Amino acid sequence: MNYAVKVHDIKKNFKKSGKIIKALKGVSFEIERGEIYGLLGPNGSGKSTLIRLMSTLLYPDCGKIEIFDHDVLKEEKIVKRMINRVSVEASFFMKLSAIENLRYACGIYGFPFGKSKERILRMLEQVGIPKSRFNDPLENFSRGMQQKVAISRAFLTSPILMLLDEPTTGLDPKAKREVQSMVKDVVREHDATILLTTHDMEEAEKLCDRISIIHHGKIVAEGIPVKLKEEYSAKTLEDVFLEVIGVKIEEADENE
Ligand SMILES: Nc1ncnc2c1ncn2[C@@H]1O[C@H](COP(=O)(O)OP(=O)(O)O)[C@@H](O)[C@H]1O
Ligand SMILES: [Mg+2]
Repeated sequence: MNYAVKVHDIKKNFKKSGKIIKALKGVSFEIERGEIYGLLGPNGSGKSTLIRLMSTLLYPDCGKIEIFDHDVLKEEKIVKRMINRVSVEASFFMKLSAIENLRYACGIYGFPFGKSKERILRMLEQVGIPKSRFNDPLENFSRGMQQKVAISRAFLTSPILMLLDEPTTGLDPKAKREVQSMVKDVVREHDATILLTTHDMEEAEKLCDRISIIHHGKIVAEGIPVKLKEEYSAKTLEDVFLEVIGVKIEEADENE
């Protein structure tokens, strides 16, 4: 099997005001090359922690993560070149335009803006930013539009694994749909593998080839959405969640 990601028995604790928080309690799963894999779970269930571990921003207490057969800890540099990440709150220079922000990103990634300019303009158009807004400061963009620029920026490096941490959380329904269809288009065009976290069941159903449900730092169900629904005799993924966890996802907030 051609795996993009192998996560094996990952554990991660945090200390917060003297207390130990077990954020991940032995998480294992695999993502096949080219899949859109959804990690579904309420607030505080451990999704972002897992994404941070995969993008080498955090180290696990134990366990192993391999990205395209490279160990995240031992081959950090190689892994970093293969992945990119978009988080809920993308950070930008808000007084600068989309193009200026992407130009800055090119500098960080170490490729000349001149050579990438055509591609940048094409990508911005592809994600639905009108040409007339290319030079507007990002502070005048809606959150949905900013999120699209963030996803374009992440694709600048042509990552073969893209980590999308709640890319549509907090967006209005229209912006949400647009970002979702952009994710689909971009995957098709860039031949990437995607790990997407969300607490939006409908989104997961629409976008993901396979999903897992994470709860209190453990994966409690995994599968193809249609099969999961069959397995739990559920009409929707929301019902699957309810069946597995016993409460609705909105009521399962683990930070409270
Ligand atoms: N840096 C940190 N220090 C202390 N606790 C943390 C830290 N990061 C995450 N946590 C805790 O770990 C748990 C999982 O958090 P997180 O991975 O952010 O969840 P999610 O992304 O699913 O909402 C939560 O209880 C959260 O408060
Ligand atoms: Mg999170």
